[in-house]
Amino acid sequence: MQKATRQTNRWSNRLAYILAATGAAVGLGNIWKFPYITGQNGGGAFVLVYLVCILFIGIPVMMAEVALGKHGRHTPGRSVLEVAKSSGKSHWWSLVGWMGVVSGYLILSFYVVITGWALAYIYKAGAGDFGTGDPKQVQALFADLTNDGWALLGWTSTVVLATVLVIGKGVKAGLERAVSALMPLLFLLLLGLAIYAASEGDFWAAFHFMFAPDFSKLSINGVVVALGHSFFTLSLASGIMIMYGAYLPEGVSIAKSSVWIAFFDTLVALIAGMVIYPVVFANHLEPGAGPGLIFQTLPIAFGQMPGGRLVGVLFFIMLVFAAFTSALALIESSVAWLVEKRGFGRWQAAFAAGFGIWLLSLGTIASVSNMPIAIFHTPWGEVHFFAILDYLTANIALPIGGLLIAIFTGWVANKALMADMIDAPWVFRLWHPVIKYLAPLAILLVFLQLTGVIHL
Ligand code: PHE
Repeated sequence: MQKATRQTNRWSNRLAYILAATGAAVGLGNIWKFPYITGQNGGGAFVLVYLVCILFIGIPVMMAEVALGKHGRHTPGRSVLEVAKSSGKSHWWSLVGWMGVVSGYLILSFYVVITGWALAYIYKAGAGDFGTGDPKQVQALFADLTNDGWALLGWTSTVVLATVLVIGKGVKAGLERAVSALMPLLFLLLLGLAIYAASEGDFWAAFHFMFAPDFSKLSINGVVVALGHSFFTLSLASGIMIMYGAYLPEGVSIAKSSVWIAFFDTLVALIAGMVIYPVVFANHLEPGAGPGLIFQTLPIAFGQMPGGRLVGVLFFIMLVFAAFTSALALIESSVAWLVEKRGFGRWQAAFAAGFGIWLLSLGTIASVSNMPIAIFHTPWGEVHFFAILDYLTANIALPIGGLLIAIFTGWVANKALMADMIDAPWVFRLWHPVIKYLAPLAILLVFLQLTGVIHL
């Protein structure tokens, strides 16, 4: 019956698709990661490079992925295979789709852990655990959570279970319904928080930090992080946009919808920055605090500000909504694959995929709670399993996956077929040289520079 990705599963309409894809894109990447990597990489110049990556690489790669899915109408590996077959090319190209699914699965294994932190923080904020914002107390709170393997396991398991319960219901009754409710709420919360931050925080310090570029603060590693993040934040090279493209109703423009999705995603990241930084600067806190920024730094401010308790609760609710719609996206391809290829029922597939994620998440849990099995001693010092997983997926696997997608759709796939998918001819004429030359070249240059092969 479910061989049937082809006939049965479609988003209800254009809006439902845009909401779902925006839900996949907007997540921890926008609210947790973007602000802290901006802080670590010196602000404005990093933001500028990131915006350039979104515009010239992210959007074209997103269009390529959605087109692959729409032509293939199957899970990512199979969709790429269909396009390769229609183009008379080797079936090995299906690995491009597969690589995405594997990267997405690995990302989800740590994503559910961080989403668990956010869930725990709704509770902590509401219980008044940030106190009066004493930095020591707030830091101890974070350390207590991350050192407590059992607590992490509990929060993570809750997130995995919730994901399974929604995704098991199916694409329309589960996924589409959940995002249609959560995304508008998310936007409202974000706007409310931005108004609060602008009135209570130091708006101009934040604005200057985020939008006045100082290139002396940007390293080549910063450029790699910006490129990797542009893939991460748009959910590219992780199978998702191919999968969501497979559910695309006829008549929806791939180009226009991709621009909208990227626009909303970028807007949320920039607004999230303008929620977090005014508060950080007004309270003389450190912008480069790293992954703990919103868990260790922001709560200090919430503890000290008027209405901070309620605002803290709302902030972490918003974060959970954002993360949850991405978690749903991240598990969808594996579930759809189990149904399509392994003949599982939808519920069975959801539980099986969820169980696998839960097992893998134990690695990240062990890592953040400093268990010795997750810490490796290397010539470069101690490295944690979570840090390796994060770096390998976001900064290596996603850009390389994106490179392969660009090469496949720009050089390998039949040009007429791609032109047929990327609807308007003038859009295709713009898109094609970008995906054929500009995107692969830019990704390659950044990598060669990183590995020290070249020095620009
Ligand atoms: N885009 C999501 C975020 O920014 C993360 C994600 C990456 C989701 C890859 C799906 C696939 O949080």
